[in-house]
Amino acid sequence: MHKPDAMLLKRARANAEAAGYPLARRLQRRRVVLVTGASVGLGLALARRLIAEQTQQQYHIILTSRESSLARFEEQGIDASETLWIRSLDVTDANQRCDLVSEIDGKLGGVDILINNAGVAYRSCVEHVTEPERLHQMNINFRSPLELIRCVLPGMRARRSGKIINISSVGGMMAMPTMSVYSASKFALEGASEALYYELKPWNVSVTLVQPRFMRSDAFAKVPYTVMSAKALSDCSDPYHEHYYHMERFIAKMMNRALATPDSVAKKVARIARSKSPPLRVYGSLDAVAFAWLRCILPRRFYTWLLYRNLPKVRHWGQR
Ligand SMILES: NC(=O)c1ccc[n+]([C@@H]2O[C@H](COP(=O)([O-])OP(=O)(O)OC[C@H]3O[C@@H](n4cnc5c(N)ncnc54)[C@H](OP(=O)(O)O)[C@@H]3O)[C@@H](O)[C@H]2O)c1
Repeated sequence: MHKPDAMLLKRARANAEAAGYPLARRLQRRRVVLVTGASVGLGLALARRLIAEQTQQQYHIILTSRESSLARFEEQGIDASETLWIRSLDVTDANQRCDLVSEIDGKLGGVDILINNAGVAYRSCVEHVTEPERLHQMNINFRSPLELIRCVLPGMRARRSGKIINISSVGGMMAMPTMSVYSASKFALEGASEALYYELKPWNVSVTLVQPRFMRSDAFAKVPYTVMSAKALSDCSDPYHEHYYHMERFIAKMMNRALATPDSVAKKVARIARSKSPPLRVYGSLDAVAFAWLRCILPRRFYTWLLYRNLPKVRHWGQR
């Protein structure tokens, strides 16, 4: 055996032992991909992509959704198999997160690619979000993905390989009125992921943020409002009524006209999963690239003035 091979084998054995998984099984194992929120929208499109590439890429796929949504997989013709697990996971539940990762560590030798996709987007102005609502938003979009990352990291570091893909948003680089807590959660995810990118480089673990703008889907129809923002939307005399009324229509129009679809974004995510060294940020659509450039090249004051002037019917806002 050549010296470098012997060294590689020694390192592989050490890594396997560190991961508590028998070496022989580790050397032939499939790459384990874990996707959160996979029963609908982008997560479902991604599930389909990964399944299509499964044989070629030698993936072991684990699709998760909350217990109440598990039936959707069968409705979509996605059936569990030896190399395709379907598991219930409410990302905000610490026990469910730990149990799932322990099961994967024990039976499959760990997660190789973690895709934090599950997310929710509250529509509300800052004045209309209570602390519990704010925590709920932050829990799903920011705190839980980070906790899941913390669960899979010891294994990835021990194996000296892994990929973390966090689905962010253009809302994580520019904020829009009535989407304050959503933007806050995605800005937080962006900040933590950027730090993590540098922290994990020494172990050959990559971190990538995917930033879609709007995707052509009906997701706007199921956007949750906070208790106070829902009242403001239905009450024409509320001082914020025009904010919600016009933004709701504007966002629905943008989503109907969006170039990006869950499938086109899923294609990009699947490419990141295959890539040897993915970058920190990947734009989910062409308009996301355009907004990133505008933010870079325009003087800050002009940029915020321009955005404000272009808000839908902004002249009427706050007139009551
Ligand atoms: N739609 C867009 O235009 C857009 C734009 C930019 C970024 N994004 C981001 O892309 C990702 C997917 O968005 P989407 O439009 O596909 O959303 P979607 O259709 O509303 O689906 C959201 C997914 O998140 C899951 N989820 C919500 N709360 C959860 C919890 N507590 N535990 C586990 N799963 C939970 C849902 O799971 P269940 O199946 O259990 O309900 C569902 O699968 C999100 O991170 C979102 O912020 C979307």
